[in-house]
Amino acid sequence: MITPKMQDALCAHVDQEMYSAYLYLGMSAYCEAHAYKGFGRWLRVQHGEELEHARKVLDYVVARGGQPALGAIPAPPREFGAITQVFEALLAHERRVTERIHALHATAGAEKDPACQVFLQWFISEQVEEESAATEIVDKLRMVGDRPSAALYLDKEYGKRGKAA
Ligand SMILES: [Fe+2]
Ligand SMILES: [Fe+2]
Repeated sequence: MITPKMQDALCAHVDQEMYSAYLYLGMSAYCEAHAYKGFGRWLRVQHGEELEHARKVLDYVVARGGQPALGAIPAPPREFGAITQVFEALLAHERRVTERIHALHATAGAEKDPACQVFLQWFISEQVEEESAATEIVDKLRMVGDRPSAALYLDKEYGKRGKAA
């Protein structure tokens, strides 16, 4: 069994992952509405990954004998600015998620729950990948600056995500 404190912290994290999914769905639609179909597709795949993260945490709470309680998911912003700003916002968001996961790991330590710490290790590694992928896109978009032809090339490249090679 998990402690009530651990359960509450994990359930709150399910809501956070759902918010990530919702935020990226909003960003995806925003990109598509601004002719960036490729980045829209990349974000749609990311949306799906965040849903998986939420389910993974929820399933874990149930597996540990918990009684999951889900909260409300706030609406994401409607305006994200230029394409570089979309991914800067995504990177900033992922950094906050990383901090939250590290805090969950610390809570598991304080609650003397080594099983939960092992479970959270997957998420800790996942965040390294998430931040690295987001940083790469932000770096490339900053490099491209105001050159539309280069931005559209990146859009095409990132639109290949989730498609068979
Ligand atoms: Fe996530
Ligand atoms: Fe993420």
